[in-house]
Amino acid sequence: MLQLNEPLADLAADAAAGLLQTFNIEAKLTAAAPGRVNLIGEHIDYCDGFVMPFAIDRYIVIAAAPNGRHEARIASAHGPGIATFPVDQEVTEGEPTWANYLRGVVRGFQDRGHQIPGFDAFIVSSVPGGAGLSSSAALECATATLLEGLLDTVLETREKALLCQKAEHEFAHVPCGIMDQFASAFGKTNRLVLIDCRSGEPELVPFENPDLTVIIANTTVHHQLSDGGYAARRKNTEDGLAIIGKSSWRDVTEADVTANWEMLGSPVNRRSRHVVTEIARTLKAAKALSHNHYDELAPLMAASHDSLRDDFEVSCKELDLMVEIARSIGRCGGVIGARMTGGGFGGSTVTLCESNKAEAIAATLAEKYEAATGIKPQIFASRPSQGAHLL
Ligand code: GLA
Repeated sequence: MLQLNEPLADLAADAAAGLLQTFNIEAKLTAAAPGRVNLIGEHIDYCDGFVMPFAIDRYIVIAAAPNGRHEARIASAHGPGIATFPVDQEVTEGEPTWANYLRGVVRGFQDRGHQIPGFDAFIVSSVPGGAGLSSSAALECATATLLEGLLDTVLETREKALLCQKAEHEFAHVPCGIMDQFASAFGKTNRLVLIDCRSGEPELVPFENPDLTVIIANTTVHHQLSDGGYAARRKNTEDGLAIIGKSSWRDVTEADVTANWEMLGSPVNRRSRHVVTEIARTLKAAKALSHNHYDELAPLMAASHDSLRDDFEVSCKELDLMVEIARSIGRCGGVIGARMTGGGFGGSTVTLCESNKAEAIAATLAEKYEAATGIKPQIFASRPSQGAHLL
């Protein structure tokens, strides 16, 4: 029942075949960057909070070769058209829109003074799109890694992640935080990427107990982060902080939110409560993990989901249903905790469970979700994996 993840080598072979077929050129470089799942710490990366994602073993892979021209030509197995744009002048947005993530990253390198050689590229992916698993950050980080290879240079990982985040802000118009690009760039096998979003410092936290499995359940209901919901939430938190009169959410307590409840007004008061309680929950979760007290994660993940549903209002009925099914399986059925993951408005849930019950749990999630909605979900397990790299 648990879907298998395609090996990286197979994705690389598919990308090279696509490159050869589309542009009649052999791959000289292949870059890969993973999507991410977030265990806890949602919608607080842009609030100086803590977040705890990991890079999943699903990747965007780009095969490429210099083409001796003054332009980039990029095709994808997952999007229509070929993106062609000159690289000897400042790259701007254009059609097809899926290529804007790549254009934004190329522009980031240009802004750092790099002369980009013409190249052909072909993209394949095993990161489901629109599933709250950061396929866009994976595409940005894969592109940045490819350019490092083409230019024979290596950016500092943090700088690379920030360049990719800027591409998302300016070329995809999503005012995202730093979580996704950091997870995709810094990810390591068997490590969570615990990020202090105030200092911008990631800490790699061991997560290698074979008795634990992380199940990702994609509701396949698609969300559009750029349709305004995400930006509106971010604005709510900025307004809340200004009303409370502090310069960082890290200096705000739950008591501050309560004391200012009327002045904050709805929905900013509830958004604010989510921020302060989620920061506290994420710190508790990190502590529980460092002591291998996995069962302590259960109430934290549950409260995180409820807060995202009721106070932050970024869940939806399909996500709530998937989480309810996991909760009904319960601890005796092997479920430790479950919640929505990522930006919300559709997408995926994350369920932490006992490995020997993972198959049965996946089967129950799939059956009950389909019975209630008529939609077949996509369910797979994932382990923390290597971040963006050249193959
Ligand atoms: C999206 C954004 C991230 C983060 C999450 C919510 O994935 O890209 O920066 O804000 O939503 O936690």
